[in-house]
Amino acid sequence: MNHEAQRSDLAPASSAVNPRGQPDFVQIVDVEKRFGEAVAVDHVSLSIRRGEMFALLGSSGCGKSTLLRLVAGLSMPDSGRIIVDGQDITHLPPYQRPVNMMFQSYALFPHMTVEANAGYGLRREGVARAELRERVAAALDLVQMGKYATRKPHQLSGGQQQRVALARSLVKRPKLLLLDEPMSALDKKIRQQTQFELGNILYSVGVTCIMVTHDQEEAMTMADRLAVMSEGQIVQMGTPDEVYEAPTSRFAAEFIGSTNLFSGVLLGDESRLFQCSDLEAPLEVQNPMNARGGLTVQISLRPERVTMSPLPPGQESNWACGKVEQIAYMGSYTLFYVRLVSGRLLAVDASRMAVCAMERAPSYGDTVYLSWGSECLVVLTQ
Ligand SMILES: Nc1ncnc2c1ncn2[C@@H]1O[C@H](COP(=O)(O)OP(=O)(O)OP(=O)(O)O)[C@@H](O)[C@H]1O
Ligand SMILES: [Mg+2]
Repeated sequence: MNHEAQRSDLAPASSAVNPRGQPDFVQIVDVEKRFGEAVAVDHVSLSIRRGEMFALLGSSGCGKSTLLRLVAGLSMPDSGRIIVDGQDITHLPPYQRPVNMMFQSYALFPHMTVEANAGYGLRREGVARAELRERVAAALDLVQMGKYATRKPHQLSGGQQQRVALARSLVKRPKLLLLDEPMSALDKKIRQQTQFELGNILYSVGVTCIMVTHDQEEAMTMADRLAVMSEGQIVQMGTPDEVYEAPTSRFAAEFIGSTNLFSGVLLGDESRLFQCSDLEAPLEVQNPMNARGGLTVQISLRPERVTMSPLPPGQESNWACGKVEQIAYMGSYTLFYVRLVSGRLLAVDASRMAVCAMERAPSYGDTVYLSWGSECLVVLTQ
């Protein structure tokens, strides 16, 4: 995402670029929300910096929308506190919060023009006409919808409607913008394009943003940091590359991207070698984390970190041998499934360049050797 975009004067005065060392702009402290016996949000704590784009990611029903609704004030927590820009807003009604929420279905008013839709919130606040017109025009220009001001929603594409909905939220100059599945109504192609557009607009405004999605690509494209949620709890938080490259749990490793997981037993307290029943050779890791000799841990190996060759690699650890069982050509890369002698199936993503560099592209039934570096293995700690 391009952080260098120019910031516009639509930004609220307080949302300057985030200098390091400032107190966190949003603090969610030990928040719990139950519906009867069910815990939708289970003692969640997280902090978000000023101007940051933060994504909440997780499968359906894990509590993402509920957490967002608590921040918006549309629902009250059973315990915990929510602080925005130094102000405890836990018990404030929604309209007194410096927060605007864009919902899962962004529903523009069909009978109103783009202009009227964008100005809806300001009209309800009783903002004077001249100011309203100016702010709406600025917001529509920002989302590049100025020239569609007099159209009705049905005369717009899905992506254009999405941008009008964003203008409607931004025009109120919230300190904190909450986006619940902002792209859910769009098909894949326009969705990807809109992710970049929306991301650039939000960065240019400099508004702090919490976005909910169950689409990991969307979170990784748009977010500075993300939190992976499962069953009401945050299982991991970090930048997209931190979570992808160093997942701490099986859930995070499998939710963000795909991975090969091994159960390995550490061969001694001082060792970096793990024995796996699936593999002939041991796994040698760079960092065994806190694993202890004799204990079984899960180890993750991303498919794109595996090198494939018709010849045995000259290393004692970190290799396997098998037969190519499935091949899926994906354009920029090819996905191979290789059946090992143990019966285990390993996924290997080979880039187009890697396949071209081989004398002959592997085909069904070929015997191949797989190898990887110790830095590619991540010991999961949860
Ligand atoms: N008003 C409610 N009453 C009872 N249970 C609710 C209510 N709202 C949400 N829940 C439950 O709380 C849990 C979390 O729901 P939530 O809507 O936050 O999930 P989500 O992560 O946003 O899912 P999705 O990706 O499907 O939108 C679910 O089990 C849901 O059934
Ligand atoms: Mg939801």
